[in-house]
This record gives sequence, C-alpha cells and structure tokens, in this order.
Amino acid sequence: MFILPALLYLKVLPLFGQRLYHFIVRNKSRPPHDGGAALSQLVLTRPCTLLGLAGPMRMPNACCVTNCRGNYDAENKVAVFSFPKVEELKLKWIQAIPRRDLVVTKNTKVCEKHFTDDDIERVSTFYKESTGETLIAKLKKPRLKKGATPKIFPHCPSYLSSTKVARDGPEDVHIVPVSHIVAEDLFTLIKKIILALEEIGFKGMGIVTDNNSINRKAVSNFNNPPQFQAQYQHPADEKRPLFCLIDSVHLIKCVRNNWINQKNGYFMYYPQFEGEENAVQTASFSILRKLYDIESSELLKFGIGLTRKALWPTNLERQNVSLALKIFSSNLVKGLLELGEKHNLMHYGGTANFLNIFCTWWDIANVKTVTWGNHLD
Ligand SMILES: *[C@@H]1O[C@H](CO)[C@@H](O)[C@H](O)[C@H]1NC(C)=O
Ligand SMILES: *[C@@H]1O[C@H](CO)[C@@H](O)[C@H](O)[C@H]1NC(C)=O
Ligand SMILES: *[C@@H]1O[C@H](CO)[C@@H](O)[C@H](O)[C@H]1NC(C)=O
Repeated sequence: MFILPALLYLKVLPLFGQRLYHFIVRNKSRPPHDGGAALSQLVLTRPCTLLGLAGPMRMPNACCVTNCRGNYDAENKVAVFSFPKVEELKLKWIQAIPRRDLVVTKNTKVCEKHFTDDDIERVSTFYKESTGETLIAKLKKPRLKKGATPKIFPHCPSYLSSTKVARDGPEDVHIVPVSHIVAEDLFTLIKKIILALEEIGFKGMGIVTDNNSINRKAVSNFNNPPQFQAQYQHPADEKRPLFCLIDSVHLIKCVRNNWINQKNGYFMYYPQFEGEENAVQTASFSILRKLYDIESSELLKFGIGLTRKALWPTNLERQNVSLALKIFSSNLVKGLLELGEKHNLMHYGGTANFLNIFCTWWDIANVKTVTWGNHLD
C-alpha cells in the first residue's frame, strides 16, 4: 500500500497558537512514482473536521508554553513577560521553551511559572538617605533579572523537552481518499479548504507540495491563466500572498548550497524580520567551520553534531539531506549561542538566528502525513 505525500499545509498565525494543519490526498494503492495519472475523480469526501479545529480563542497575555494555562482564565492569573529584545537572549528563550512551532511576536508572552524564584524580582529596595533606612516595596509588576531564561516546564509532554523528536503533530483538516482526480477538481478542493480555514479565523500562508505533476498543475490554477509560480494572490484576500513551495527537502539543500557558494567569505545576508525595518543580518558559514575546528580540538565537546562531510560536502554529498540537516540543527544553534562569544566568532548571533529560522521552517514544511503508513478505515 502506498500513500500520496501530504499536499497542503496551512500555516496558522501566532494569534491562534500557530499550529499546522494539513490536507492529505492519497490513494491507498498508488504505486510510489506513478505521477498523478492514476488519480482522477473524487471518490469520497470524508466529512470535514474543519470546525473542530479553531480551539478556544487565546486570551491576551496567555502564556505561549505548551499546556500552560497561565492567564487562560480568571483562576490562573499570572504575571507574564515579553521576550527579550536582545537577539541572543531571545534565541535562548526560544531554545529553552519546549514547543516546536513557536513564533515569537511582540505579543508572545511567557508566564512567571516558568522562571525560578532567583530569576524574578518581586520587590524593590530603596535606601532612604534622610532616615538611613532601607525600604522594601513590592513591585506592581514583577520583573526579570538580567539574562534570565525560562527553565521550568512542568506540564510539557516529555517528547517536547527532548531535542530529538519534537514537534506538535499536524492535524488533518481534510482527508480525501481518491481513486481518480483531475487537477481542476483538486484545485477547487484546495481552494475550498483554504477559504473555509480563513472563515473560521486561520491564516493560510502557503501550500507545500511534492513535485508531482498533478499537484503542480492543481496549484497553478491559483493564477489565471494557470501558471506555476512561487507566489499567488491569496484567494481569501487579494492583498495577501499565497506561497507555494515544492519539495521542502530539495529547498533546504538549496539554501545550504547557496550559502556555501557565496564568494564573499561564505556570508549570507538576510533581512531582519522583526524590529528595525530594512536591517540586514549576516549569517556566516565560515564560523561553522571554525566551530568545528574548536570542537575537534577541545576535550570537552559541546555536541554540536557537525561533521567534515556536512561542512565540506562533495557534489554527491550535497544530495544528502541528512548532511544539510546537520547544518540546520537546533544543537548547532545552541552551540553557537554558547560558544560564539567565548571564541569571538564574528556574526554568531546572526548565524544562529539564520539557522533557527530554517530549523523552524523545516519543522513546519517537512511534516509528513500524520497517519503515514496507515490505512484509512
Ligand atoms: C489507486 O490507484 C491505482 C492505480 O495506480 C488504482 O488502480 C486504484 O484503484 C486506486 N485506489 C483507490 C483506492 O482509489
Ligand atoms: C518539478 O518537475 C518539473 C518537471 O519534471 C521540473 O521541470 C521542475 O524543475 C521540477 N521542480 C522542482 C522544484 O524540482
Ligand atoms: C547521508 O549522510 C549520512 C550522514 O553522514 C549517512 O549516514 C548516510 O548514509 C548518507 N546517506 C546516503 C544515501 O549517502
């Protein structure tokens, strides 16, 4: 039995707790590389589970940590903290919080339950010169000490705390077993699902698909006349883009290759997505090689998982995705943040940030079908 790869992922904006929903089209007995030819005409459409998906609206100031009820209701009133502005510290928070789909905006908060008492200041002391007394006043709002990071995550599933398997599972918004389907029908279905999701408050960002010809053809219908593009006008809002990515595995290798191919000392320049507009950040591949040298000469290893092959891949090795993933790895991000300053690695913050963006992207874009390998009842 074979399964068609997942076809549509809709990324949902942070307002709703940024989760990933996807739509799978598959044919139980489709041979692996049969193209789209065997698929035509919809056989069955399972009742859409769409409406069950929106979940409760998030309270403002709700804590972003998985399973934390901080500020969700009146009984759980807690103080919350925004993410730090300093990029390096902010990344440390992101790394610490066991949640894979975390996207931080200025409204993303972490509540006091995740900090140790040592990290939180609840009172302020004043020295009153006139009387020589030291006064202690309770702060209206507790504040964090310098450099504090969240450390306590009592209700997170343990798989999220481990660095290995870590991702909130995707959810099906729609499952459509088909025996035959034509691109136009598939397009109509994709569009319907995107519109339905938008209607209940989600924001569809894009579609991730493999390079199957029927998928490509279906997606190209978002343009009139049909034409395959990386970006379309969003069917729910003409001012927004709807992105289409083909083959996330291929893309992540391309990003790595382009980076290595930079002739300017392996610097990749990229826009800073938050904060200052028009600011440019730099990611340096050469400091990854330096980091590798540092690691291999030190007795106590940080475990960043870099290998020679990952850093100097041959043309053949550039095809190997697990080598690319040794570069886009959260261990490496941690390693950079820990060792960057100590070893004076130029652009380590920008590089860690760049890697982190693609780690997050990979977690989102590379979701396989939840029921991969299972049969539909
Ligand atoms: C899946 O595709 C095959 C052709 O590859 C076709 O013979 C079969 O009927 C399809 N299965 C279903 C469940 O539609
Ligand atoms: C997808 O397949 C088409 C036709 O086989 C090919 O021209 C195109 O380059 C492929 N695109 C990607 C991103 O692999
Ligand atoms: C890809 O690289 C990994 C890590 O070096 C290795 O274990 C694996 O065998 C390689 N895969 C192929 C197909 O060469």
